[in-house]
Amino acid sequence: MEQDNIIRMNHPLVLHKISRLRDVNTGTNEFRKLVSEIAMLMGYEALRDLPVEEISVTTPIEECMTPALAGKKLAVVPILRAGLGMVEGILALVPSAKVGHIGLYRDEETHIPHEYYCKLPDAIEERTIVVVDPMLATGGSGSAAVSFIKKHGGKHIKFLAIIAAPEGVKRLMEDHPDITLYVGTVDKGLTEQAYIRPGLGDAGDRIFGTI
Ligand code: PRP
Ligand code: URA
Repeated sequence: MEQDNIIRMNHPLVLHKISRLRDVNTGTNEFRKLVSEIAMLMGYEALRDLPVEEISVTTPIEECMTPALAGKKLAVVPILRAGLGMVEGILALVPSAKVGHIGLYRDEETHIPHEYYCKLPDAIEERTIVVVDPMLATGGSGSAAVSFIKKHGGKHIKFLAIIAAPEGVKRLMEDHPDITLYVGTVDKGLTEQAYIRPGLGDAGDRIFGTI
């Protein structure tokens, strides 16, 4: 699993916040805040290679050349529903980013993902695309989402998952070896119902307060 394009977060703040997420006693309000904060911390790491160009700025002292973000604006693409919880954290870093959406749900019995919505920003082929989903379990949803984005022309893809199972990491990176995966932590494995263990339960339900 040690590959250049799989980056594990080892920052104590991220690890601490993930532990809070796992706790069954963490309520919806705190859970949402934590998901957003973790997304921001992971986004900071994932966006360290954004292209920059020198621009001219006049300070109160003198004119100088100084770096600014270059190229087409970033696209953030949450996988609905749970990925929505991570969008605000990325937008806190890059407020001008465009936001696309991919709607997928896992069939409860087969665990196979089904698409119900896909809307991406224009000129997607020119943008750095940050796909966000807190959970990478079997990897079926993540892999399907990346395939949709590629079908629409997307090329520079980074995938941010807060908790992954080894099975999901393997599936996503075998299907899409050209992307970079940023993962908060990799757990033990999957339950018979394809939940991550120990995981945090159903991320969508915990973010939106549904059951
Ligand atoms: C969850 C999660 C991922 C997917 C991961 O979504 O947010 O998208 O499961 O599982 P996988 O790696 O086995 O595909 P879910 O299908 O529960 O939909 P929801 O976000 O609408 O609750
Ligand atoms: N989806 C979730 O929300 N949680 C899991 O553990 C697996 C898939």
